[in-house]
Amino acid sequence: MNVLVTGGAGFIGSHTCVELLEKGYGVVVIDNLVNSCEKSLERVQQIAGKDLVFYENDVRDRAALDSIFEKYDIGCVIHFAGLKAVGESVAMPLEYYDNNLFSTVTLCESMREHHVNNIVFSSSATVYSGDNEMPLRESSHTGMCTNPYGWTKYMSEQILRDTAKANPDWSIALLRYFNPIGAHPSGLIGEDPRGIPNNLMPYISQVAVGRLDHLSVYGDDYHTPDGTGVRDYIHVCDLAAGHVAAIEYMLGHKGENVFNLGTGTGYSVLDMVKAFERVTGKKIPYEIAPRRPGDLATVYSSPDKSAELLGWKARYNLEDMCRDTWNWQSHNPMGYAG
Ligand code: NAD
Ligand code: UFG
Repeated sequence: MNVLVTGGAGFIGSHTCVELLEKGYGVVVIDNLVNSCEKSLERVQQIAGKDLVFYENDVRDRAALDSIFEKYDIGCVIHFAGLKAVGESVAMPLEYYDNNLFSTVTLCESMREHHVNNIVFSSSATVYSGDNEMPLRESSHTGMCTNPYGWTKYMSEQILRDTAKANPDWSIALLRYFNPIGAHPSGLIGEDPRGIPNNLMPYISQVAVGRLDHLSVYGDDYHTPDGTGVRDYIHVCDLAAGHVAAIEYMLGHKGENVFNLGTGTGYSVLDMVKAFERVTGKKIPYEIAPRRPGDLATVYSSPDKSAELLGWKARYNLEDMCRDTWNWQSHNPMGYAG
């Protein structure tokens, strides 16, 4: 079966392309490279020892999508393409709503026209509202998002849900990722953020490689064991495997399917710093800084539904995540640029 992967040149998309190729799927990627580069896809093909097809286009370009669906027999779409920086979305809400919502709508329109009924969507733990008890389950409350990025995920889920309701042949998988980190064990592909990283793990690894001076720990007065924020970090290769498990499941289950992709275990910021130091032997200097607006104290998943219905479970542990992050960063200190 051929899978159309939107945003396939990005961090999670590139790892998922490897997993798809290795599992025998044909892969067609559409990506406008707004936050990635084509080199990632060359490396994907190197790792898998197989070719994929790449189109450098915007997912909002209906004609480009139509021509792909006409040319290839696509059985399923995985929709990664989107802008994802929380702070930037507060400063540039219209760009985020335009990019993230119109890409979803245009994609669904083109899929409907070409009778492609299966779509896996990159959602996020950010769709859960802040008033839930932990762990977060798929049935926990959603909404009350604290930034435009979060609303685009919430609204895209709704667009897909309504589309599946109106088109009973459709199957949609809404995958709510927790905190993806790590890299492919080969060290050939990994996370390559533009500018100063917003997220914890790329920040730590850029401190380790000497690109940044020290880490700012955003708050040490949360109601957590050591006062710093707790998150559910998951290895990107586990996440990639979760997408293939979702495709296999949705082919036999029409309608809406929502799954958490997390490990179910929370680690604090200082746990992450210590684990990274232990695994890599690198010292990570840090300073305690004020809390970051919008951050919650503790976020972690229940992965039970994914285990039960998808037969999927995270296999990599915290040491693996740190080792693979460092393997990628130390071999590619400037990311894909060198
Ligand atoms: P990424 O930025 O590395 O990948 C996204 C890709 O989409 C990039 O290659 C970018 O060039 C492409 N893109 C963006 N807008 C496009 C458009 N209009 N047309 C074509 N291509 C476009 O991000 P990622 O970390 O790989 O995330 C993938 C998806 O998962 C995103 O939708 C993101 O919101 C979601 N997600 C990520 C995280 C995370 O922490 N990384 C957490 C939850 C959800
Ligand atoms: N943190 C620091 N210093 C930093 C960066 C982060 O102390 O330089 C802390 C944060 O305060 C938080 C933890 O590290 O406690 C994790 O922060 P990240 O920015 O790595 O991750 P978030 O949980 O805030 O956000 C991530 C994605 C969002 C997504 C959210 C929920 O970046 O896109 O998970 O899935 F919405």
